[in-house]
Amino acid sequence: MVGLVALSLTTRERNMLNLKGKTIVVTGSASGIGAATVECLQAHGAHVVGMDIREEGRSDSFVQVDLGSRKSIDEAAARLPEKLDGLANVAGLAPTVPAADVIRVNLVGTLHLTHGVVPRLTDGSGIVMLSSIAAYHWRQSVDQIREALDLSFAKVDAFVAKHDIDAQPGRSYFVTKEALLAWCITHRRTWIDRRIRANSIAPAAVSTPLLDAFSSIMGDRAQDDARVVERSGAPADIAPVVAFLLSDDAAWIRGANIPVDGGVAAHYLAQENGL
Ligand SMILES: NC(=O)c1ccc[n+]([C@@H]2O[C@H](COP(=O)([O-])OP(=O)(O)OC[C@H]3O[C@@H](n4cnc5c(N)ncnc54)[C@H](O)[C@@H]3O)[C@@H](O)[C@H]2O)c1
Repeated sequence: MVGLVALSLTTRERNMLNLKGKTIVVTGSASGIGAATVECLQAHGAHVVGMDIREEGRSDSFVQVDLGSRKSIDEAAARLPEKLDGLANVAGLAPTVPAADVIRVNLVGTLHLTHGVVPRLTDGSGIVMLSSIAAYHWRQSVDQIREALDLSFAKVDAFVAKHDIDAQPGRSYFVTKEALLAWCITHRRTWIDRRIRANSIAPAAVSTPLLDAFSSIMGDRAQDDARVVERSGAPADIAPVVAFLLSDDAAWIRGANIPVDGGVAAHYLAQENGL
């Protein structure tokens, strides 16, 4: 019996990701994929600092932040622990709100927080961006993405007006997800001396409040991808991949975008290449 217990403990430990004792920040911790990520990281032994505009969720500690406000981000970043071992940028808005708000929260605020957190990251830390299957065609918009990556809070309104983004349903969301993916590629070597890695994840439709909001303005387009997969995605399908990318087990993955989508991206690839 004792031997069996010891064996099962060993098996469990063998299945654990290399996250034990790490302090990880998760934005969007109050709901959906962020909440599932908190639980998954905790199950692998990490201490999780949740960040969200809403004070809900099960993180070990919590720092409230409005990612649409530079002042709020600066104040929140100052309240984070001195040393952190990873950052999962999960918070995001659907394009049911004005385009400038989507771009501020999903991109400009997320990047502002990330750059504020980097000095606190220990060597070998991971940064994860929640991109989306919505970014699949990012190569077609490289000029706009380059501009988006350069945005400050003050320049968002002019960017929206210049590209007439409010007139294109969903474009505010798409450009933010494209830019997050591109940011990870851009920063593939930026902190290489500290072994800090940035990678993105591209889920297809996942059942969360954000998907409901998205569907209300995008109609069937938001759910179209679901028709090529055997079931819709759940937050628990995404969280383990976020956790893996934050763990030491992913030490050689940098600047990558990982589709976690039940095969939707593969479906597009097959169609495009006649496979
Ligand atoms: N659900 C999907 O189908 C899907 C697909 C691909 C990518 N994603 C991405 O996954 C991420 C998580 O989305 P979800 O589906 O879990 O949605 P969700 O709505 O369940 O969670 C989003 C979280 O972000 C927080 N948030 C919103 N505005 C904020 C702000 N100004 N400051 C701080 N926090 C704020 C919300 O309070 C919420 O807890 C998003 O970035 C989303 O774009 C979702």
